[in-house]
Amino acid sequence: MIRWLTVLSFVLIGAQPAVKKGPAAPPEAADGPAYTAEGQLKFPEDYREWVFLTSGLDMSYTPNAAAAKHSVFNNVFVNPSAYKVFVKTGTWPDGTMFMLENRGAEGNHSINTRGQTQAVEVTGTELHVKDSAHGGWAFYNFDEASRNPKGSALMIPKAATCYACHEQHAAVDTTFVQFYPTLLGVAKEKGSFSKEYLKEMEAPAAAAK
Ligand code: HEC
Repeated sequence: MIRWLTVLSFVLIGAQPAVKKGPAAPPEAADGPAYTAEGQLKFPEDYREWVFLTSGLDMSYTPNAAAAKHSVFNNVFVNPSAYKVFVKTGTWPDGTMFMLENRGAEGNHSINTRGQTQAVEVTGTELHVKDSAHGGWAFYNFDEASRNPKGSALMIPKAATCYACHEQHAAVDTTFVQFYPTLLGVAKEKGSFSKEYLKEMEAPAAAAK
């Protein structure tokens, strides 16, 4: 009897590695960027299940910018695996994805008689992705016009103004953490502000308001 148990346990132990092996786990997080065979970024359909960072209203980056006729909200989301790393370290890991989603503002909707709420229709979706295998930090525009029928987009060329503004003014690693209230304190505590942002903080008068 004991001998049989010994044989049985050998069989079980021997079988274990084979059971554990299975298909190789992908090295990157499951909520990270995915690409088509042609290297276009696939639209992350589930971004509304990501972590919400902020809503900006009618943001503008030029002095004396004229008020828009119709107000626009922009909502920022980040993929959960990257958010968790940021909270621990104050930095963004490879595979970080941000979504900037635009929605028109609506007044006088349902019982609302004052103030503005967000429209159902999405008027723009832009992504900011950190992926060392795909050019480091890169921007993608999924606005209707540039979105192809398969729901993927080419990287916006590095000469675009997106890159320069984010590099020169964003608080942490080309991302605008200074406007993400739950993350600003984390960056401060971990000391991960960019040197450009620290300079802007020293001379606030010189920084674009
Ligand atoms: C003049 C400065 C400026 C330019 C140019 C600019 N952005 Fe931004 N971007 C911002 C600011 C400020 C925020 C923070 C928005 C907020 O707080 O709601 C932001 C946030 C974002 C985010 C959210 C993630 C992050 O990096 O913080 C994405 C995605 C984004 N921008 C995409 C783009 C794309 C694509 C372009 C070019 C077509 C672009 N931006 C050009 C200033 C800029």
